[in-house]
Amino acid sequence: MTDVRLDKICKTYGTVEVLKDIDLSIEDGEFCVFVGPSGCGKSTLLRMIAGLEEITSGDLSIGDRRVNSLSPKERGIAMVFQSYALYPHRTVRGNMEFGLKLSRMDRREIDARIARAAKMLQIEPLLDRRPAQLSGGQRQRVAIGRAIVRDPTVFLFDEPLSNLDAALRVETRREIAALHEKLGTTMIYVTHDQVEAMTLADKIVVLNDGAVQQVGTPLELYDTPANLFVAGFIGSPRMNLFAGEAGPEGIVTASFGTLPRPDGPLPEGNVTIGIRPENLHLTSEGGARARVTLVEHLGNEILVELALADGQKAVAQGPRNHCPTPGDSVGVTIGSEPLHLFDGLGRRIETRSP
Ligand SMILES: Nc1ncnc2c1ncn2[C@@H]1O[C@H](COP(=O)(O)OP(=O)(O)OP(=O)(O)O)[C@@H](O)[C@H]1O
Ligand SMILES: [Mg+2]
Repeated sequence: MTDVRLDKICKTYGTVEVLKDIDLSIEDGEFCVFVGPSGCGKSTLLRMIAGLEEITSGDLSIGDRRVNSLSPKERGIAMVFQSYALYPHRTVRGNMEFGLKLSRMDRREIDARIARAAKMLQIEPLLDRRPAQLSGGQRQRVAIGRAIVRDPTVFLFDEPLSNLDAALRVETRREIAALHEKLGTTMIYVTHDQVEAMTLADKIVVLNDGAVQQVGTPLELYDTPANLFVAGFIGSPRMNLFAGEAGPEGIVTASFGTLPRPDGPLPEGNVTIGIRPENLHLTSEGGARARVTLVEHLGNEILVELALADGQKAVAQGPRNHCPTPGDSVGVTIGSEPLHLFDGLGRRIETRSP
């Protein structure tokens, strides 16, 4: 069993606390993604799991061993970095076999492992080249190959796609997903890109400011964000957020009038209403009045940026057959998807779906 457990993990640099009481379990074979904005502590957390960064307090276990004081090697993990970190003067084969040779592995076993990994990653024709003779995508595959040959119990990835161009990023992302499918090994993957997180993860951990905001499957986070931070972070384009006031009659808003109360308990007072862009619809008559400020074409759909009568901005996503132009006056209505509601502290208010 190579599950990874974090129990009240903290990290401080001097007096600065960069990670606070992180509790987490990553199951054997799971693909877990840490996502969050720059500086939130993703790399630090991953490096602590790898053994490259000291753990200030708390317990880290991999399988049934507490590994806080074990060296990276003893933890049975392999890490792939954003910068590839290949030896420039060694060939692809040389880079892949270096660690195995150091551990005095049998030559035939080394060759067999390299052949297997090279085939899986389709880098067989590149084995005698040096990194400078490879494209960025090929270098990243070599870096992944170097991790695979070590046959780790846990793979760690720190933003492995961010040096690649857009097309290659999608392709390499698929390769990593296929690799996980094939190997079934526990993987922990760091990114600031919520699309990568949504497409790769079994489980997403959203971090902000050194603290876990929510843990769940991609769809749990999308459908039931635990707070305003997760609501704004997961989903592209971002969820629209409107201020409202909950009372006995319903939820009073500046632009959309009074919305019906959802079933279930609703605390009275200030609330924030979250509506995804695909749940806002444009109409020629009725609805909240708005002016179109920008239209973006995605191909099959359009994004329409709107200025509502009270000055708030909103984005609607919809079919391209009713495409307005900037400056148009339009109506905006709310679709039938359940609303997201957040209390004065930004926490989700659980309501039963209507
Ligand atoms: N050696 C250090 N000394 C002091 N502070 C540090 C040190 N290393 C990192 N930090 C701080 O810890 C915080 C978390 O850094 P970390 O590199 O984990 O962020 P990240 O989420 O990986 O960001 P990015 O997406 O930009 O890579 C940052 O505020 C950073 O400035
Ligand atoms: Mg980082």
